[in-house]
Amino acid sequence: MPTILSVSSHYLNYLNLQLLVPIPYPLSPNQMLTFKPKAQDLVNIDSGNLNDIVVDVQHLNHYFGKGNLKKQVLFDINLQIGKGEIVLMTGPSGSGKTTLLTLSGGLRSPQEGSMKVLGVEMVGASKRKVIEVRRNIGYIFQAHNLLKSLTAQQNVQMAGQLHPQMSSKEIKERATQMLDAVGLSERKSYYPDNLSGGQKQRVAIARALMSHPKLVLADEPTAALDSKSGREIVEIMQKLAKEQGTTILMVTHDNRILDVADRIVHLEDGCLAQNDVLTVSDS
Ligand SMILES: Nc1ncnc2c1ncn2[C@@H]1O[C@H](COP(=O)(O)OP(=O)(O)OP(=O)(O)O)[C@@H](O)[C@H]1O
Ligand SMILES: [Mg+2]
Repeated sequence: MPTILSVSSHYLNYLNLQLLVPIPYPLSPNQMLTFKPKAQDLVNIDSGNLNDIVVDVQHLNHYFGKGNLKKQVLFDINLQIGKGEIVLMTGPSGSGKTTLLTLSGGLRSPQEGSMKVLGVEMVGASKRKVIEVRRNIGYIFQAHNLLKSLTAQQNVQMAGQLHPQMSSKEIKERATQMLDAVGLSERKSYYPDNLSGGQKQRVAIARALMSHPKLVLADEPTAALDSKSGREIVEIMQKLAKEQGTTILMVTHDNRILDVADRIVHLEDGCLAQNDVLTVSDS
C-alpha cells in the first residue's frame, strides 16, 4: 500500500497554476509520478502569433487594494523582451519587481494597459488562456519548492506531467539530461534534504527548463546562495537558455551576476527607470 503524502500547499500551487484539471489529493508518490492531465484539457499556444517578442508590455498600471486603500504600485510600464533574451530586473525593495514578474507569468491578472505574453493578451484573458500561457513558462523562485519525498530525478520528472504529448520514457530521459546539464549526475537519487541549497536550486532549474519553456521567470534565484554557487546557477541558466532559445526575465539584487544579462531594466517606485542594452560577453 503506497504511503499517502502530505503535499505542501505551495507545491500543489505550482501544479495548479498550470493545470485545468483538479489534482486528486492526497497523492501517493507513485500516483504523483504517473498523474497526467488529459490532452483535451490542455490547449496549445499558437506559435504562429509569437513573432520574436515574447513579452510585450504597453502602458501597464497596477494597483493593490480597493477604495480608499487602493494604491498604485506600477506606473505606465513599457517593456518588450525578445526571444532568447536574458533580461535582469533590479530595483529597491518594494519597487514592484515581483509584481511585474508575477503579472508576466500569468500568476496575477493585469488590470490596465496591455500585457502580451507569448502572443496572448493577458489583460482580460480567460482562465483557460492564462493556463495555456503558464504551461509554456518555467518558474524559478527563491524558495525552490521541491517535494521532499521525491528524489531529485523524480522532482524534475514531475514537470513533464504537464505535457501530455511527452511519453514517460521521454520525460525520464529529459529529466536525466537536465540533471546532467546542471551538474547533478551523481545526485539524481538524492532526496532534497540531502542536497545543499545550491544543489536544490539546480534541481529547481532542471525542473523549470526540462520541458523547454519559451519563457523562464526567476525571482532572486541566487538570493539564498553564496556568491560562487549563485554565479554557477546563473551561468547554467544562461547556457541552457542560449542552447534552447529560451527567454529569461530574472529579478536580482546580486550585482555580481549582472554581466550575464543582454539587458538590465531597473524599477524605481513602480516606474521603469532604465532600459539599458548591454554588450553580450562571449564567455
Ligand atoms: N498582495 C499585495 N497586496 C497589497 N500590496 C502589495 C501586495 N504585494 C505587494 N504589494 C506592495 O506592492 C509594492 C511592490 O511590491 P513587490 O513585492 O512587487 O516589490 P519588490 O520590488 O519585489 O520588493 P522586494 O525586493 O522586497 O522583493 C510594495 O509596496 C508592496 O508593499
Ligand atoms: Mg520581490
